[in-house]
Amino acid sequence: MPTKARKPASKRVPAKAPSRGAAARPKGRAKAVAQARAPVAPPPIRTPKPKPSAKLKIAFKPRAGDITEVLIGSALIPEAGEGLLRSGGAALVVIDAGLPRSLVEPLLRALDRTGTRWDVAVVTPSEENKSLATLEDILSHAARGRMERGDLLIAVGGGVACDVAGLAAALYRRGVRHVLCPTTLLAMVDASVGGKTAVNIRASREPKAALLKNLVGAFHQPARVVCDMQALETLPARHFAAGLAECVKHGLIGGSCGDAGLMDWLTKNRPRLTARDPVACADLVARNIRLKGRVVSADEREASPKPDGGRMMLNLGHTFAHAIETLPGLSWRAAGDRTDAQHLAAVTLGPLLHGEAVGLGLLCAAHAGERLKVSPAGLADSLRAMLARIGLPTRVEGLPPSEHVAERMIDDKKTQGGRLRLILPAKGRKAKVIHAPPRDVVIAAINSVRG
Ligand code: GLY
Repeated sequence: MPTKARKPASKRVPAKAPSRGAAARPKGRAKAVAQARAPVAPPPIRTPKPKPSAKLKIAFKPRAGDITEVLIGSALIPEAGEGLLRSGGAALVVIDAGLPRSLVEPLLRALDRTGTRWDVAVVTPSEENKSLATLEDILSHAARGRMERGDLLIAVGGGVACDVAGLAAALYRRGVRHVLCPTTLLAMVDASVGGKTAVNIRASREPKAALLKNLVGAFHQPARVVCDMQALETLPARHFAAGLAECVKHGLIGGSCGDAGLMDWLTKNRPRLTARDPVACADLVARNIRLKGRVVSADEREASPKPDGGRMMLNLGHTFAHAIETLPGLSWRAAGDRTDAQHLAAVTLGPLLHGEAVGLGLLCAAHAGERLKVSPAGLADSLRAMLARIGLPTRVEGLPPSEHVAERMIDDKKTQGGRLRLILPAKGRKAKVIHAPPRDVVIAAINSVRG
């Protein structure tokens, strides 16, 4: 499922990388801006937008000896490398094509100020590009820049850029430190936290062979995650809603992750969140990262034998989602409370975003959970209403026969001995692993999202 680049705008980063930096350069532009600011008329009175109160620091230990520092606030991306760069060292900045320049240039200027040699590698975000070829391109940039073990890789972008850059950091010289600056809500609350890095591959060179998501990767923890709320201001509504799907996922299992109240908080604050209130968004990001940090610190490698699945519980809905999200020819109609969803086109065609597929996967899991008496009665209906209000699809048209979708689910990494393992939302906002669920339950769950 391609994650679309942001809408073209005048100040977006082109697909071609900016030139390398060695020392401060962009002074001319700053001067031009200053000259243009001659006093003319008093500025219009504006109600200032509330800012996230302050820079918030969260630290968690994904594994002994490692620590991930998380910074949440406004205008923080320029600080990405602070305290992590060697004097006279190098940084490779991996960025999403199409990011607003205002998110990237201040970082490059900050690197110039510290005398850091930098180079930029641009990634066009899509599942097709989350590939070995993109990984090799990033590694070649690092090699050309003669980066050493003590140097730093900094990713600025969505989940695709963060995942591939993280894998490059894990592999280059057998591991260099990296900083992730997620610029989508989904990457802030999920992809950037916990050290999962990966690319997709196909099992054969046949053009029609399915893309196997995240099949090749490594656990490599970022030294720092920088969540800059300014990035959310320009995020297209569809991508923002897709990020909320991962937060709803956390809400459904908050009781197993030390935050049983998250779902109620999400329900209460949904209007502020969909209106992109920056303080509510910063709270949302902090709360979800704390939750995920607790799960990852307890079970970094997804090896927990606990009935809630340990880290595996974070895959709630994903076995269904991965089977659906790369299917071609799907379409959906925004439904439910159109006051929240009105920013979306009435009918959306084409591949789903990952978060949209996760929303559908959560519905399938809730449906299966109710059938198996694991989930509370009525969960699927209340979840459907919530996802619709957020502006997420709750049914899709164009799904192939459910048997076909169920076959694709076998490719899931949680499959053991050819048998599916599903994570289901259990009573008390807990997660529960179900081994080899009955086929008819899986089929009925898929049918529940058929439009
Ligand atoms: N996205 C699920 C995990 O990080 O484990």
